[in-house]
Amino acid sequence: MTALPRSVLVVGSGGREHALVRSLLASPSAPRVIAAPGNAGIAESVACHPVAADDVSGLVNLARRERIEFVVVGPEVPLALGLVDRLLELGIPAYGPKADGARLEASKIYTKEILQKYRIPTAPAAFFRIAADAIAYIRARPAPIVVKADGLAAGKGVVVAQSHAEAEAAVHTLLALPSNGADGKILVEDCLTGEETSILVVVSGRDYVMLPSSQDHKRIGDGDTGPNTGGMGTYSPAEVVTPALWHRIEAEIVRPSVEAIASEGIHFCGTLFIGIMLTADGPSVLEYNTRFGDPETQVVLPRIESDVLALLWAASSGTLSQFRLLVRPESAVCVVIAAKGYPGSYAKGDVITFPAKPPPGVTFFHAGTTRKPDGSIVTAGGRVLGVTALGATLKSAADAAYRACSEVNFNGMYFRRDIGARQLRRS
Ligand code: AMP
Ligand code: GLY
Repeated sequence: MTALPRSVLVVGSGGREHALVRSLLASPSAPRVIAAPGNAGIAESVACHPVAADDVSGLVNLARRERIEFVVVGPEVPLALGLVDRLLELGIPAYGPKADGARLEASKIYTKEILQKYRIPTAPAAFFRIAADAIAYIRARPAPIVVKADGLAAGKGVVVAQSHAEAEAAVHTLLALPSNGADGKILVEDCLTGEETSILVVVSGRDYVMLPSSQDHKRIGDGDTGPNTGGMGTYSPAEVVTPALWHRIEAEIVRPSVEAIASEGIHFCGTLFIGIMLTADGPSVLEYNTRFGDPETQVVLPRIESDVLALLWAASSGTLSQFRLLVRPESAVCVVIAAKGYPGSYAKGDVITFPAKPPPGVTFFHAGTTRKPDGSIVTAGGRVLGVTALGATLKSAADAAYRACSEVNFNGMYFRRDIGARQLRRS
């Protein structure tokens, strides 16, 4: 492997980026790490530069000014805007796909076409530009049925409609989303049932390394009720992914997906995050994301014993096939603490208080936080913190995470009480 980079820029400001920064700093090669724009938690360990994650020129200039040798991109928007294309043109290595690869997340219709073309298991679907056509299709299918906006919609682009009326309303809402553009399209697909798992795969062309499985909790309310969010909590490993299922997922989904992307002429370097429904007929792809998941990353990275910088660098420098991933046997649980009102409108600027020291095995990953001139840390986003604990068992990790949650406080804080509960009931 080529020598590891001595300086790394992490782009983004969420819990995912906090987890990335923490793992990169743990590299035995002791790199200099900076972030843009970062958040109050990231700023406790590295310098944060006030450049927005969607300011491609600003980020490129920052990387040049700071003589950055490796850029790790967290969120999807800069990827879709071609940040990595620009960096590579300038000879700055980066982890994350170019715009052609990012389209696998930025267009659900494009992804569905690839899944269909390469016969990778996924729900049957049809695409529409005209509301009346979508509605006619919906009326001829059984409910529940799923309506999705084609483009990026920050987690608001999918409606799992329980009735035809709800699906028809979603057709109008999703076609009208500003992010859908003037000639917006939607997808209507059959509803799959089962348990979900998130599989994060570090990809470099035709080579890949599967990271440990995890399970997200997308709905805002306990017992998976209420609207979808960006994710309210995760645990890893997802024990529902038995060794047999893991091999099936690799053979039927991961390897064919990596091959399909390469066959389409895309040189993909970055994380392919595959959202999978474990149906009675086998695993089926819900979506691709082309980045680390949030909050999946907050449980997956703490379980990786290998040097995460070396892993991402191997992907970017074409040596991934030689990488052997070491995973810690512990379980990890991340409980997301959100601001009251999330995923709708929510307050900002509430002062957060933390225990003097995080309890052993616990990390407070910051998401929507900022530090005020007076030194106080205040809320600045819908998802505010990801409280992650490692434990010998899922139960001990969950207990530790929840104990730590009770030591944090801010006005209107909300978190689900049942992260990992489904698995705990089984075991
Ligand atoms: P996506 O952004 O496509 O992953 O959709 C967000 C969430 O909507 C998924 O994690 C699922 O919980 C749900 N979802 C998406 N597609 C389907 C489907 N075909 N059947 C059932 N649920 C779905
Ligand atoms: N937790 C789901 C996502 O990152 O999209």
